[in-house]
Amino acid sequence: MAYPPAHLAVLLLPVFLLLVVVLSSSMVDCDDNINQDFDITWGNDHAQILNNGELLKLSLDQSSGSGFQSKNQYLFGLFEMQLKLAPGNSAGTDTSFYLSSQGSAHDEVDFEFLGNLSGDPYILHTNVFSQGRGGREQQFYLWFDPTADFHTYSILWSPNYIVLSVDGTPIREFKNLEAMGVPYPNNQSMRIIGSIWNADFWATRGGRVKINWTQAPFIAYYRKFHAKACIWSSAMSSCNSNSSSWFTQELDPKSQERLKWVQNNYMIYNYCADVNKFPQGLPAECSAATT
Ligand SMILES: *[C@@H]1O[C@H](CO)[C@@H](O)[C@H](O)[C@H]1NC(C)=O
Ligand SMILES: *[C@@H]1O[C@H](CO)[C@@H](O)[C@H](O)[C@H]1NC(C)=O
Ligand SMILES: *[C@@H]1O[C@H](CO)[C@@H](O)[C@H](O)[C@H]1NC(C)=O
Ligand SMILES: *[C@@H]1O[C@H](CO)[C@@H](O)[C@H](O)[C@H]1NC(C)=O
Repeated sequence: MAYPPAHLAVLLLPVFLLLVVVLSSSMVDCDDNINQDFDITWGNDHAQILNNGELLKLSLDQSSGSGFQSKNQYLFGLFEMQLKLAPGNSAGTDTSFYLSSQGSAHDEVDFEFLGNLSGDPYILHTNVFSQGRGGREQQFYLWFDPTADFHTYSILWSPNYIVLSVDGTPIREFKNLEAMGVPYPNNQSMRIIGSIWNADFWATRGGRVKINWTQAPFIAYYRKFHAKACIWSSAMSSCNSNSSSWFTQELDPKSQERLKWVQNNYMIYNYCADVNKFPQGLPAECSAATT
């Protein structure tokens, strides 16, 4: 519900089923050519692929935002992208990098970067939807300036859990708690989507700070996409074994410690601590050790 332009772009797209028959039985390990991996889906000339597919530039001005999505659909994977966000006064903008399926009972895993006035911090907003139910927001400040340089944002999506990481540091974990009756994203393929859009009705200080269009265009860069993933095509997965390490990997003690460090020092909102939002009681997953 919070992402109309990105979703609109998805809905408007005709869906071309890939006619690729995946003969390989191994996981696909693909690297670094934006032309090969993504289509521009929104904003026409506001999105550009540069340097022979090395760099993707999205811009937002008063006439339009822009976006892209992966050619492939995936069912599980480890997805990494480097982003450099719009600098200066970026208040009201939302720059996203996320996974989403289609349809009403959709699954989605989000990174969204909410801009701010010059000198004030971006918020990294995250959410997980399973079978149409979201409302699982966690928000963070970053421990660096995300506009000064590229940083790596990754989504690990395995049958057992989802982990969002920033420069290799896990910031959020969402476990498969189907055994407790919590739906988990594992039966719908998803695409990778990125966008920059006007979200000034909610993004900055809860919507109180609007976009200052004299600062436009707002430009975000994406590069170095890397996926170790199972491609989903014609109802078949390119993976036929769970042998890859990311598939079964658990957070080691050091990563658990890093995750705690982020949650203790940089997490500014956690739905699991928001009793006002859930007057009839917190969601079931909130009582599990980590979410
Ligand atoms: C699979 O996903 C759909 C949503 O498209 C959901 O309605 C259904 O219950 C799911 N099936 C299983 C077995 O989890
Ligand atoms: C913007 O800056 C204000 C003041 O520091 C802060 O409260 C807020 O969390 C920041 N980020 C956003 C996206 O509103
Ligand atoms: C927008 O930015 C311009 C240039 O920095 C500034 O002069 C103007 O006051 C800003 N507008 C608002 C509404 O803050
Ligand atoms: C991989 O493991 C998951 C459980 O962790 C299982 O549900 C799935 O069927 C397995 N996939 C294959 C192709 O063996």
